[in-house]
Amino acid sequence: MSNKKVLISDKASGQQIELPVVRGTEGEPTLDIKGLPSGLGYFTYDPGFAATAACTSQITFIDGGKGILRYRGYPIEQLAERSTFVEVAYLLLNGELPTESKLNAFRDNVKYHTMVHEQLYTFISGFHYDAHPMAMMAGVVGSLAAFYHERFNVNDPEQRMLAAERMIAKMPTIAAACYRHHMGWPMVYPQNNLRFTERFLHMMFSMPSEEYEVSEVAARALDLLFILHADHEQNASTSTVRLVGSTGANPYACVAAGISALWGPAHGGANEAVLAMLAEIGDVSKVPEYIERAKDKNDPFRLMGFGHRVYKHYDPRATIIRAACYEVLDELGQDDPMMDLAMELERIALEDEYFIEKKLYPNVDFYSGIIYKALGIPVSMFTVMFAIARTVGWVSQWLEQCETPTKIGRPRQVYAGPTERRYRALHRRQ
Ligand code: SDX
Repeated sequence: MSNKKVLISDKASGQQIELPVVRGTEGEPTLDIKGLPSGLGYFTYDPGFAATAACTSQITFIDGGKGILRYRGYPIEQLAERSTFVEVAYLLLNGELPTESKLNAFRDNVKYHTMVHEQLYTFISGFHYDAHPMAMMAGVVGSLAAFYHERFNVNDPEQRMLAAERMIAKMPTIAAACYRHHMGWPMVYPQNNLRFTERFLHMMFSMPSEEYEVSEVAARALDLLFILHADHEQNASTSTVRLVGSTGANPYACVAAGISALWGPAHGGANEAVLAMLAEIGDVSKVPEYIERAKDKNDPFRLMGFGHRVYKHYDPRATIIRAACYEVLDELGQDDPMMDLAMELERIALEDEYFIEKKLYPNVDFYSGIIYKALGIPVSMFTVMFAIARTVGWVSQWLEQCETPTKIGRPRQVYAGPTERRYRALHRRQ
């Protein structure tokens, strides 16, 4: 908190009020507007919460103007280069980098919970084979509440951390099971002698009929992508998890709500939409046409993977992923024409006045699909990859909210409907 105040005065009534300024350790100053309705008789109006802080958090800091992203104070560039997804998960959950013994204990805890109740596989088999995996994920993760509900006490810190570790551990198992159901393949159980991303790739692609060797390149590339997608402060899906959590709902239900929010193409669904967009554009010669369409207010087409509510500069994750694209394609001996197309699309867009003026840059979703595709992950599973990683952010933010006194989230509205009127009998309506 700071002791600074801002004076708000209403010229019409002559009334005025001083609002406290709330400052964090970093970032823009905010006005505490709680006193505005009683002090001046006004509420505030901010559709999309573009100018509204919904909470105080110590987990992730973004400076959109400078393209800065830090998890618990550590720059994303350093974590991407030197850490692992499991270590980043520990950091986001606990606030500090682990000692070796704490990291090993956490890794063992996660491994211990990778299995799911056998009946979940029966649940998954009930979906039509071509159900979208994000629809399956939302349903199956939500159903975990049915398996762990009666004993769950949200006021018990140990049970909260157990639920958090269970979700981090089970998301890859459920994701792989959804994919294998879609492919008509037999389920593969988690192999706990493998590391997090190796275990996931083994569950996704191994076949009971033959040896499967996990590609070290693929495991490392996926670990990097999971680090970059792990958390991003109060984005739409995390805010959804917090809002659902503010009602005291079961944490599995909170994460299921987050999965549903993430699926939207304006949010995590954009990584799938980018590949569809690149496929539709097809050739570099058609890029100018699509750039013009993206600028046309009468055309619903948007440049998917471009723009961001907070970043008005390069998304630092996009920078890292773009460099990783080259390394992964080179190490896998692949040459993906979509990479050239994406680079040309970015080049032309960033030279265009519309994108420059509106500060629209590639975001985390613009290049990630190139790597997922190179690893053999189908486009329909791209947002599921995002969900596996973001589960760490969701449960970390949910834990933080549970640990601080929180009122139920309940925004107000500006009512624009009919004023009071009398009920009219049926025979008197025309
Ligand atoms: C993620 O919040 C997070 O942190 C999200 C995320 C995370 O890690 O959790 O970073 C992950 O969701 C990244 C974003 C993925 N979505 C996309 O790539 C979809 C395409 N992008 C847009 O839909 C849009 O940029 C948003 C949704 C990302 C941001 O929308 P905003 O903040 O509401 O901005 P806006 O729609 O008001 O855009 C401002 C202007 C508008 O023009 P004007 O009305 O001012 O004339 O820029 C235009 C928009 O029309 N614009 C675009 C555009 N994005 C914004 N024009 C063309 N193509 C685009 N992609």
